[in-house]
Amino acid sequence: AGMLPLTGKHVLITSGPTHEPIDPVRYIANRSSGKQGHALAKAAFAAGARVTLVSGPVTLPDPDNIEVHHVESAADMLQAVNASLPADIAIMAAAVADWRVTSEGKQKIKKDGSGKPPRLDLAENPDILKTIGHHPDLRPKLLIGFAAETKDLVANARAKLERKNADWIVANDVSPETGIMGGDANTIRLVSKDGVEDWPQMSKSDVAARIIARAAAALTS
Ligand code: C5P
Repeated sequence: AGMLPLTGKHVLITSGPTHEPIDPVRYIANRSSGKQGHALAKAAFAAGARVTLVSGPVTLPDPDNIEVHHVESAADMLQAVNASLPADIAIMAAAVADWRVTSEGKQKIKKDGSGKPPRLDLAENPDILKTIGHHPDLRPKLLIGFAAETKDLVANARAKLERKNADWIVANDVSPETGIMGGDANTIRLVSKDGVEDWPQMSKSDVAARIIARAAAALTS
């Protein structure tokens, strides 16, 4: 009696962008407000879960009652995620930068007067979702990723499902005209091995509540 759908469960969520330093004052980042990830963390807590939120740099306040790990780079995020396992459900909503700068300087890069821009050397970042999806013994029972695309939404989401060994991909069209990036509403397609579900446009907090309700049902089925 009085049990909530995720009582006794641990839910791990990544949110926000990562920042990859170029020098002490500059970085490379993805656009991400963290709104959807933070809403998921709140929804998981409301459903009774113990929640760990690993967040890149965002302007949102830390949600109440949730353990928040603040990170900057993808490498830091991977480390915090690994340290937070095991989890029953993991939802990777962060917009992780695909590349980091290997030529990161300890000093601020200065214009040298030649008119030639500096060269930045990049290396691919670890894929956190893929790493967790292929974890030898701590893969969460339900692993959910996001896919923000501007074209071929479902085909890209299906490929991600396979490559990263995720259970679901929450796909959304982030073409500038949709207003999804940074906005409060979201229109998503839930892609799983069983098919594609189109959800109507709703607020990011309603999307979060619906994903969490679905996740709780999937965990106990
Ligand atoms: O491959 P792509 O970046 O489009 O995949 C998006 C999904 O993978 C999201 O769930 C995101 O959080 C996750 N991801 C990750 N680590 C990366 C890149 C993406 O966890 N380095």
